[in-house]
This record gives sequence, C-alpha cells and structure tokens, in this order.
Amino acid sequence: MRKPIIAGNWKMFKTIAEADSFVQHLPVVEQEVDVVVCAPFTALFSLTEPLRAKNIALGAQNVHWESEGAFTGEVSPGMLAEIGVKYVIIGHSERRAYFNETDETVNRKVRSALDARLMPIVCVGENLSVREAGQTSTIVNGQITAALSELSAEQLNQIVIAYEPIWAIGTGQTATAEEANEVIKAIRGCIAEQFGSQWAEQVRIQYGGSVNPQNIQGFMSQSDIDGALVGGASLTPDSFIALVKGAA
Ligand code: G3H
Repeated sequence: MRKPIIAGNWKMFKTIAEADSFVQHLPVVEQEVDVVVCAPFTALFSLTEPLRAKNIALGAQNVHWESEGAFTGEVSPGMLAEIGVKYVIIGHSERRAYFNETDETVNRKVRSALDARLMPIVCVGENLSVREAGQTSTIVNGQITAALSELSAEQLNQIVIAYEPIWAIGTGQTATAEEANEVIKAIRGCIAEQFGSQWAEQVRIQYGGSVNPQNIQGFMSQSDIDGALVGGASLTPDSFIALVKGAA
C-alpha cells in the first residue's frame, strides 16, 4: 500500500508573516496522508517548528547539486536538511522553462538531495504540442529515465514523482483523472523496466496541474495516482485543508 501524499507548492508566494499565519490556521494532520508544504527559501526556517507541530513536512522548491562552493545565489542539500527540510521539488517545469534546468541537472540534483537524506519530488510532464502529437509517454518516460539514472532500487523509496502536464499548470484545465492515470501507469511501467516491478509498485506518483478541492477525489480514486502536487489551490488554508481531506 502506498501512502497518499499531498504537497503544496507555494511557488514565489508568501512572506514569512503570511506563511506563519497560514500554518496557524491549519489543524493537526492525521497520519493517513503525508502532507508537505513547499515554501519559498525565505520562509523555510520559521516554518520548521510550526509545521512539525501540525504533523506536516517542510519542503523546498529547488536545490543545487553541489554540497558547497562558489555558486552565488544557490542553496545546497545539506543547508536545507540542516533547517529541517524533508522534501525538495526538483525539475519543476517552471524551472526547466525559465532557469535552464535539463534532464542532466535534474538527475544531479536528485542524487545530491538523496545523499543529504532529502526526499526529492521529481517533476515530469509534457507540453501541449507533445500531447497533441501523441508523444506524451515517450517524452515523460524519457524524463523519468534520465532523472533516475544511476540510482539504486532501494533509493526509489525515498523519491516521489509528480506528473504535471505543462498545459494543465495554472490554467484551470486538467487532464481527466483517467488520462492522468494512464500516463502515471506508463511511468510506473518505465520504472519497472529499469528497477523491477516490486520496486516500481512502491514509488509514489502524484498528479499536478489545476488540482483543487472539487477534483481531488477523482484523481485519488485512480489506481496509480498516489496524491497531488498543488500550486494555486494550496495557497489558502481552507482550500489546502479540503485537499488533504479529499486525499484521505
Ligand atoms: O507545482 C504545482 C503545479 O505547478 C501545479 O500548479 O495547481 O496552480 O496548476 P497549479
């Protein structure tokens, strides 16, 4: 049995004061769902204790692959781990599109994050032209193969994958639950080919892209969807609480 996991990706929203106020409005989360808040770097440290008290894990939205060095503006996996970060989003399509992240840098970040005992939330997904050309699984499985390169099968237990069709992000347009499940099944098949099906069955795979309290249950009812990576609908406490309830 794979435990459901709901992660909020706040992107570049919320000051420290706004983040603290958000967490104050949350109840203590029950054990049946893993809940993660991925906050901007500036708000991470102040959220460590308040989130722990609510049984919610702290997540970052990016990380560098080196442990230290002359990399102005970057933050290392060890620095995140030091302040209580447990998860880190890697390879979000916005980082691939605007900050030149490639399959290779995604893989380097995944391996370094694991070395620091962070759990990567590895993002993959196709753009609209790929979808319309019927190439979704080819492209997505290529991203998966690259992201997981050189990992051991045991490390798969420390990874979460988020399938996010780019055309569904922030648009209000979602893949249907069945469509998302098909792509996610194909991702699981791709992992099984590389590592064996007993390992692939254990990997948690989220759907992301315009998930909200109204549609979360449809996604969660699918055989291979284990949770959601949520942007816009994770920004208000009421909506976030409803998402977590919808995943339980
Ligand atoms: O990381 C989250 C995704 O980009 C989804 O964002 O829920 O606002 O569509 P969204």
